[in-house]
Amino acid sequence: MKTVLITGATSGIGQQLALDYLKDGWQVLACGRNTEKLAALKAHNPTHCQTLSFDVTKREAVLVAGESITQALDLVILNAGTSIYIDDAKHFDSERFSRLMHTNLLGIGYCLEAFTRHIPAGGQLALVGSSAYLFPFTRAEAYGASKAAIAYLAQSLSLDLKKHGIAVSLITPGFVQTPLTDQNDFPMPMRIPVAQASTDIRRGLAKRKALISTPASFVFALRLLNRLPYSLQLWLGQRILRS
Ligand SMILES: NC(=O)c1ccc[n+]([C@@H]2O[C@H](COP(=O)([O-])OP(=O)(O)OC[C@H]3O[C@@H](n4cnc5c(N)ncnc54)[C@H](OP(=O)(O)O)[C@@H]3O)[C@@H](O)[C@H]2O)c1
Repeated sequence: MKTVLITGATSGIGQQLALDYLKDGWQVLACGRNTEKLAALKAHNPTHCQTLSFDVTKREAVLVAGESITQALDLVILNAGTSIYIDDAKHFDSERFSRLMHTNLLGIGYCLEAFTRHIPAGGQLALVGSSAYLFPFTRAEAYGASKAAIAYLAQSLSLDLKKHGIAVSLITPGFVQTPLTDQNDFPMPMRIPVAQASTDIRRGLAKRKALISTPASFVFALRLLNRLPYSLQLWLGQRILRS
């Protein structure tokens, strides 16, 4: 039986992945802050689901969670993340910026320190980024920057973990229907159900793909836009802002 550790398993994409991996017969280490939601997840399959409760922004707590792990982790999915918008760039709120970076980026660093050592040769590590970093979106200074950093982190980790036999995947979702996007007040083209995102992600991970996009067509379109000249991307970004 294979074991997968998933952060952010109490909601949205992470929760769906946890439920689907349990159905697929995996042992799941579901991680989150909310102990009630973790208990509800465990109730689906008490034999195969274990839970670990910690906040990814608390390095000591993350390391303690890592030390409590006794089995090899065939797959680690670092998915926990949040979205905080910068509403007034002129009066830039560095506290919001810092809070977002702490959860989305530094949290991944703490999890890498705690969990990568438990991945044996032949295992896999997946970072959940976003396709948002591919194009300039309004108010996304913090979120987009965190996801751009995650994309680079995944590429660099791919090089350095290869010699240890660990495959690294970067997951770049478009819009997925979850509590995170339910709070958005702007149009979200091609937003897909979370079950579809989970299917795409699990299929990509089973193939050990380095880059997993869901929905593929939306993310492909953003990748094309990303290849346009810099000034043209900014012009298009402004057009979208005004429409
Ligand atoms: N939904 C999309 O369209 C979309 C698109 C691109 C990328 N993504 C990325 O996909 C990942 C999951 O997003 P989602 O849409 O599934 O969001 P979600 O439904 O809000 O779930 C986020 C998960 O992360 C956990 N989390 C947040 N801050 C945490 C912290 N400090 N410590 C521990 N856990 C924390 C949450 O736990 P709590 O329940 O305790 O808050 C929750 O389990 C995120 O990295 C997000 O950026 C999502």
